[in-house]
Amino acid sequence: MSSIQKLIRPELADFEAYNFIRSQAEEEHIWLNANELPWNNHADSSIRINRYPQQKNQSLIEKISKIYQVAAQELVFFPGSDAAIDLLVRLFCRAQQDAILICPPTFGIYRFAAEIQGAQVVEVPLLVAEDFQLDVSGIKQAWTPEVKMIFLCSPNNPTGNILREEDLLELCATYAGKSIVVIDEAYIEFSGMKSMTQQLKHYSNLVILRTFSKAYGLAGARFGVLLAQAALIKRLTAIMLPCLVSNLTLNVVEQALTPEHLRLSLEQIDCIRREREYLTQKFKTLPCIKKVWPSGANFLLLQARNAVEVIEACKAAGVILRAPETHAYLPECVRISIGTPEENAQVLKILTALG
Ligand SMILES: Cc1ncc(COP(=O)(O)O)c(C=O)c1O
Repeated sequence: MSSIQKLIRPELADFEAYNFIRSQAEEEHIWLNANELPWNNHADSSIRINRYPQQKNQSLIEKISKIYQVAAQELVFFPGSDAAIDLLVRLFCRAQQDAILICPPTFGIYRFAAEIQGAQVVEVPLLVAEDFQLDVSGIKQAWTPEVKMIFLCSPNNPTGNILREEDLLELCATYAGKSIVVIDEAYIEFSGMKSMTQQLKHYSNLVILRTFSKAYGLAGARFGVLLAQAALIKRLTAIMLPCLVSNLTLNVVEQALTPEHLRLSLEQIDCIRREREYLTQKFKTLPCIKKVWPSGANFLLLQARNAVEVIEACKAAGVILRAPETHAYLPECVRISIGTPEENAQVLKILTALG
């Protein structure tokens, strides 16, 4: 039995993929096997909205595998990374028996997905004194054989910092055959750092999450990509509902990958990075802000003199910020997404007036 097969919930280890009818139809056939309406009523006739999506959109798979520099069989599409996180937890964690390990403060969906599945959540906080780096020895102490998955996020949400690559690799190696290590790279395009995708060939327990919601500006389309070795992808796709990603989304993603759109995305990423540095420097001069953490993402984490005062002042001026107040680790902290230069200027004005 392969090391991945051993980690999967035993009842799902040989689960057969749902036999979806669309995959049996060729282009030249008359399609009368899926109870679809035969007319395409969409204004854009190139989007075949009356038809269920193809299970495998080979041309898009190939384009995206080139961008992420992996083989076509090492990725699978989801309607957003959230859906990938949910399905991963369902594949590996038995209710009331298994656990995931998270490093708070971090993205809330890991815990949410685990709780829905009835999996335990082991917490090993990031090291605040080390600008939110991983507590690798703390993880090793807290780990038990029930921990089937370790969720790591780099750049991390909500702290914005990039986790040390040597720590990530150490965890992949330490837990080979023991735990799946999920590295969520939702914000990596803003960081200037290289992805961990080149490590996939070395670690069968490594899963990488990428999304089109952030750098590609497609949060409303819901499109995420999970990358892992082919054996893991095969087991995951076996328990996936058919047709999760809609034809509309696939079409929008195709458009986002044309050279003009890719150029625009790069310009926008550059703009976000410039604005992030500008805001960081400006915020550091404001009396109402005590600390600004370095960020590799499209947001900044600030520690305010009084977080409620900052949030309320912005709200009164029509600007909504996020208080990660649920994190005991982040007293008086505020998370601010980087907006357009005009929006950012407005925030600066409001906070400057606070004194
Ligand atoms: C770290 C992280 N992962 C995943 C997601 C969700 O991504 P998606 O929109 O692809 O579901 C978010 C969204 O904020 C995030 O911060």
